[in-house]
This record gives sequence, structure tokens and C-alpha cells, in this order.
Amino acid sequence: MKALRVLLLCGGQSEEHEVSLASARSVLEASGEQLELTPLVIDRSGHLLSRQDSLKALTSGETQTENLSVTELPQLDRHRFDIVFPLLHGPFGEDGSVQGLLRLMGLPHVGAGVLGSAVGMDKLVMKSVFGAHGFPQVGYRGVTRYRWNTAPKQVLEETARLGFPLFIKPANLGSSIGITKAEDEGELQTSLETAFEHDRRVIVEQGLNTIRELEVAVLGNDAPEVSPVGEIRYDTTFYDYETKYTEGEADLIIPAAISKEIEATCQDLSRRAFLAIDCAGLARVDFFYQQESGEVYLNEINTIPGFTETSMYPRLWQAAGLSYPDLITKLLELALEPR
Ligand SMILES: Nc1ncnc2c1ncn2[C@@H]1O[C@H](COP(=O)(O)OP(=O)(O)O)[C@@H](O)[C@H]1O
Ligand SMILES: [Mg+2]
Repeated sequence: MKALRVLLLCGGQSEEHEVSLASARSVLEASGEQLELTPLVIDRSGHLLSRQDSLKALTSGETQTENLSVTELPQLDRHRFDIVFPLLHGPFGEDGSVQGLLRLMGLPHVGAGVLGSAVGMDKLVMKSVFGAHGFPQVGYRGVTRYRWNTAPKQVLEETARLGFPLFIKPANLGSSIGITKAEDEGELQTSLETAFEHDRRVIVEQGLNTIRELEVAVLGNDAPEVSPVGEIRYDTTFYDYETKYTEGEADLIIPAAISKEIEATCQDLSRRAFLAIDCAGLARVDFFYQQESGEVYLNEINTIPGFTETSMYPRLWQAAGLSYPDLITKLLELALEPR
């Protein structure tokens, strides 16, 4: 059989550029002979590095030269590739933009299409879809930058009414970037300012105390499979950027030590959340579990989860008996399935 020619898109214009490169490095190292993998790095300004510079960026870390704009991706000879693996996080990569471009090019790609990507990326729209399905989640309010600039008093009043502590988040980011916890109105104000540095739209959420954080990997298209449940443990106040990406700061526990019921609840909600946003290929679905009350809250769905070999998503599948290289192959097969 001829090797499948895969374009691995990575880097990207979002604040999660580095995280994406780490995932791409892992995929590159793991891919066997049956794949002809071409990594292509999108730099922070939205330009495509040459093939050579892309490899350099992934191996030695140094890059330079601005090349084609990512919008000129279609001008690359598309007959050289059978499929694209967009291993990009955050805006432009995970939000449906690149997926739309690939769709116009007629190139199949791994993961959710335009709709699932866009809904999964935007915490406000995601939560209203989940709410419409009756999935359990914390109380929240959306605020626009316009409203914050024109009616700050009302915004503070309305959001404080949710009850402290609060979590304030840019609507469209990941990796905990721009997210802070506020214990009082003074902190709420600073938190809102921080979040608005990253996005026009911000979400203010009821903060839960003493939670356990559970995660499930979903794999498939119309009849997705779910993995065992994993747990993230850390010592910091919450699962912030530092904790996520500093070696040794967070422990992944697979499978999580939880009852069969809680496991089934998380798995069932994961499958339903995946279908609710019209996801495809892969997603990691994250939960807050309050052990005392026994409540499970759906936190979010990530349509392009961290994908290094030691990230939660691949490790959950390893625990289910699917190796990292086989997972990559499976994702490519799913992307080629007629839908
Ligand atoms: N409502 C909440 N209550 C308690 N902790 C929260 C809440 N929202 C977020 N957190 C903490 O912040 C982390 C990041 O929030 P999340 O919404 O998952 O953003 P991201 O998309 O950046 O991962 C969570 O993993 C959790 O530790
Ligand atoms: Mg998260």
C-alpha cells in the first residue's frame, strides 16, 4: 500500500503556539513508515514556514523567515497530500477557521468540521448548547467588551450576583490563558480587565470549591467511543497554565478512583456532548466532580486536545489498549470516512 501523505499543520497564531508544536513533535516522532508526514508550521503572524524551516522549528526550535500567508495554503500543491492533521489549538486553528479553508480546498482533515470546531471553541455558545440539552453545568454570564466599557457598574453587579468565588475567562481561548479566580468585587474587576485583554467576549462562572477534575477521551464520528475516565491532580489553586505545562506540577491518574456510577455518568455525558456540538474524530471532555455532594458538572469540550504522547487524551486511549501510533492511524481513518 502506498504511504498516506499527511500534512501536519502546527504552531499557529494563537497563544497556544508552543503547546501545538509540542504535540506535533510527538506525532512526528511516533509516525511509522506507513505515513508520509510533512509538518508545516504556521508562525505567530500567520505565515507558513517552508518545509525545511518547519522541521527546524520542531527539532532545534529556531525559526525565521516569513513565507506564504496561511490563507495561501490552497496554493501549495494539494495533490501532494491526501489528508491534513490540523494539530492547532485556540483561535484560527481549533475554531473552524482552518477547517473552513480545508473544506473549501476539498481536503479531508482530522477532527471536527467548521460547526463543531466553532461551537467547541466558544465557551459561551458551547454552554448555551449544553444548557439546551440539559447537561449539568455551573451558572454563568456572558459579558461583551462593549458592555464592560459602557456599563461597568451593572456588569459588576450582575456577575457578582452569581456568588463568589468566580472564574473569569476569555470566551475563545484554552490552556487557562487569561483565566483568573476572583474572591471579591475588587478582584472581579481586575479579572474582567485581564480577560478582555484576550477577547471581546468573556464568561463569568460560578466557581466550585474542592472539586476533582475528570476527563474523558472521545473517538469516532457518528457513533463515537469513550475511554476510561482520567483525573488531573495538582497542588495549585486551580489548573492554570503553569500547572498544565510545568513538568511534575500535575499528575494524571488513569483510571480515576471513582465509583462505577460517576464513571458511567461522565462517559455518557461525554458522548452526548460530542454529538451535541456535531464533533468528529476526537475530543476530550472535561468535568468537575464534587465528591461530597456527588455532583458532576460538565466543564468543556476540547476538539483538539493536547496531543503529546504523554498528554491526557492519548494516555486515556493507551489505558484502553490503543497505542499512540495506532491512535494516529485511527484518527486518519476516521477523517477519510464518508459522512
Ligand atoms: N467554575 C469553575 N469552578 C472551579 N474551577 C474552575 C471553574 N472554571 C475553571 N476552573 C479551573 O480553571 C481551569 C481552566 O478552566 P477551563 O474552563 O477548563 O479553561 P481552558 O479552556 O483554558 O482549559 C479548570 O481546569 C479548573 O481548574
Ligand atoms: Mg480546560
